[in-house]
Amino acid sequence: MKTILVTGGAGYIGSHTVKQLINNGYKCIVLDNLIYGHREAVLTPYFEISDLMDKNSLDKIFSKYQIDSVVHFAAFAYVGESVHSPKKYYENNVIGTLNLLDVMLKHNVKNMVFSSTCATYGEPKYIPIDELHPQRPINPYGRSKLIVEEILEDYHHSYDLRYISLRYFNAAGCSKDNDIGESHSPETHLIPLVLKAIIDQNKPIKIFGSDYDTPDGTCIRDYIHVEDLAVAHQLALEKLDDYSGCINLGTGIGTSVNEIIKAAESITGKICPIEYTQRREGDPAKLFATNEKAKRILGWIPKYNDIRDILSTAWSWEINRKY
Ligand code: UFG
Repeated sequence: MKTILVTGGAGYIGSHTVKQLINNGYKCIVLDNLIYGHREAVLTPYFEISDLMDKNSLDKIFSKYQIDSVVHFAAFAYVGESVHSPKKYYENNVIGTLNLLDVMLKHNVKNMVFSSTCATYGEPKYIPIDELHPQRPINPYGRSKLIVEEILEDYHHSYDLRYISLRYFNAAGCSKDNDIGESHSPETHLIPLVLKAIIDQNKPIKIFGSDYDTPDGTCIRDYIHVEDLAVAHQLALEKLDDYSGCINLGTGIGTSVNEIIKAAESITGKICPIEYTQRREGDPAKLFATNEKAKRILGWIPKYNDIRDILSTAWSWEINRKY
């Protein structure tokens, strides 16, 4: 049985990946500082409360377990906050990763799947975005992830690190059996906010801009189900011997903010109160992926291609949430 260290395994995508790996015969060790993660989301008995800034603690974890590979999620991920507090993002996301890599190499662990983001591309020059699209992030969060991608490529050449950086588009939905789900504090993501507005009819969802150059004037994104992301992490782990590099994870389908709201109304049978406001700084009009490389290299095919199916899992979590 392979042993995988999952940093940030108490977070949204991390916890779903742990579930996927455990269900497929892996032993998972979760490392999380619980600043944003949830204890209830940790589905493995092997849980270490630790922080990537604490190298001694990392060293102890690598001594305690025979780790084969690392799936590295632990990071701060609020785009807006990163603009106001870049130091926090560069320290945690970049220096934290360097600490992790140092300890990995010391213990001769040379396999990593890294949680990257479409935010490394910045303002799109063309759509759909492939992996060769120029990477010019427009905020410190995106830059912190791009810096790590580049560090991994250098470590691959110099220290024989095998890595795959997975660039997610918009993660959405939750585990079908509702044991884990999406719970951010503060919540800034569209889908949970739309569902919350449907539940509490007094708090409308603010639509950030309706004058974009898109068919209905609202922004278009590529919403990818978190369980599809989780499967891709397992496939990436199993591909590390043959391939190192970067891979997009999206459905290739663009959905507008208005389409999300209409689909949410249709699956809940309730009206979503809305309020049009001005554009949010740094939001591109359209972002969606081509996932050809993920299909070719990983053999990955997303199962959730209908936004209503993704929203149904998110809705069922929202009305039964455990944390
Ligand atoms: N939106 C609203 N109202 C809200 C929240 C969002 O209209 O209250 C809109 C946004 O303008 C955007 C879309 O809904 O067009 C999706 O917004 P999210 O905040 O849910 O997601 P983002 O596309 O901004 O963010 C995602 C990831 C980030 C990543 C970013 C890269 O969650 O981690 O893509 O652009 F950095």
